[in-house]
Amino acid sequence: MSVLLTNIGELVTNDPEHGGSRQARPAGGQARPAGAGSGGLGVVPDAAVVVEAGRIAWTGPAAAAPAADVAVDVGGRCVLPGFVDSHSHTVFAGDRAAEFAARMTGEPYTGGGIATTVTATRAASEDILRARGQALVREMLAQGTTTVEIKSGYGQDVATEARMLRIARELTPETTFLGAHTVPAEYADDRAAYVDLVTGPMLAACAPHARWIDVFCEPAAPTAFDEDEARTVLTAGIRAGLLARVHGNQLAPGPGVRLAVEVGAASVDHCTHLSDADVDALAGSWTASGTVATLLPAVEFSTRSPYPDARRLLAAGVPVALATDCNPGSGYSSSMSFVVALAVREMRMSPAEALWSATAGGAAALRRDDVGHLRVGARADLTVLDAPSHLYLAYRPGVPLVHQVWKDGTQAWP
Ligand code: NIG
Ligand code: FE
Repeated sequence: MSVLLTNIGELVTNDPEHGGSRQARPAGGQARPAGAGSGGLGVVPDAAVVVEAGRIAWTGPAAAAPAADVAVDVGGRCVLPGFVDSHSHTVFAGDRAAEFAARMTGEPYTGGGIATTVTATRAASEDILRARGQALVREMLAQGTTTVEIKSGYGQDVATEARMLRIARELTPETTFLGAHTVPAEYADDRAAYVDLVTGPMLAACAPHARWIDVFCEPAAPTAFDEDEARTVLTAGIRAGLLARVHGNQLAPGPGVRLAVEVGAASVDHCTHLSDADVDALAGSWTASGTVATLLPAVEFSTRSPYPDARRLLAAGVPVALATDCNPGSGYSSSMSFVVALAVREMRMSPAEALWSATAGGAAALRRDDVGHLRVGARADLTVLDAPSHLYLAYRPGVPLVHQVWKDGTQAWP
């Protein structure tokens, strides 16, 4: 059955063929994620979309739309590709609201609170973890997120890491093994033994449920991993058939970006403290390793920290993604609209750059060509905004603007 969504006031396709484009598009590759201007959004006014068999079959001016089995009038609203949230930690137990309150009165964020969530997650039943994960993914969907990545990392033992990933796999294909999130207390005196556990039995138990391997490479945080430890973890994961992504340069300058580019990671996430060499490595990486810089400004908001310098990255031609990092410690927002608003207001991204980074940028960070845009053949994952244009995402911060969400060609919310 084909469905025609029509009377779309503004359609954002991220298709360079629509509305002119300043983006380079390498032959056979996906659009280069750098420097998406308003042309890069591929905006079509007074538009329509035809969806068939879960995919985009046609987009263009409503006046030229072909017939379909069913027509849905969206009343002049704006339609976007569903958000692609390429970084989240949405399977966990407990909360750390008290830690947040302490930060707001001056305590710094160090990553030390991760141990609190590890204790709660180990103690939780599988049913509780599943119910919490399902509720958060549903909360994300209701806010326009149609693709989400979910990490393990609050188990830090073989059974709990594998349990987290089994649950995450029920919620998304984009699952990430993050056994090397921090070194748990019982290994504090023997970090090497923990790295052996992560790269040995834990990896063997988790790899079947994961697409990605990740590590918190942050020598400034005493319980996170240094460059050599992180390289050992990533190369073991890659050898086991996983693709790499890295938490790096969150709390201080460090080796995370360099290592991510070295191993060909799809993304290095946080990028709050970068040297000129890091920016150069990321700028040069697009053709070589294809490493995206994923910025997580809800974390800087929730840890009261300086925001990453998005303009420096964009000026250097670095592909930039935006994601929530939804987790109980450093930032507990599931809202990509909030992230877009922060990116515009606090990191001086244009509304078009921010929306592109929250959709096509996230897709690039997950090496996905079927989401994050509405070119013919894409998954029919669409967010209908109760607003006339995408500018409203940042213009009306904190307002629930999502009217409807379609996933794989079917209305999934409300
Ligand atoms: O992405 N930086 C490391 N990991 C998470 C925080 C996890 C937590 O504090 O519970 C992050 O910010
Ligand atoms: Fe994270």
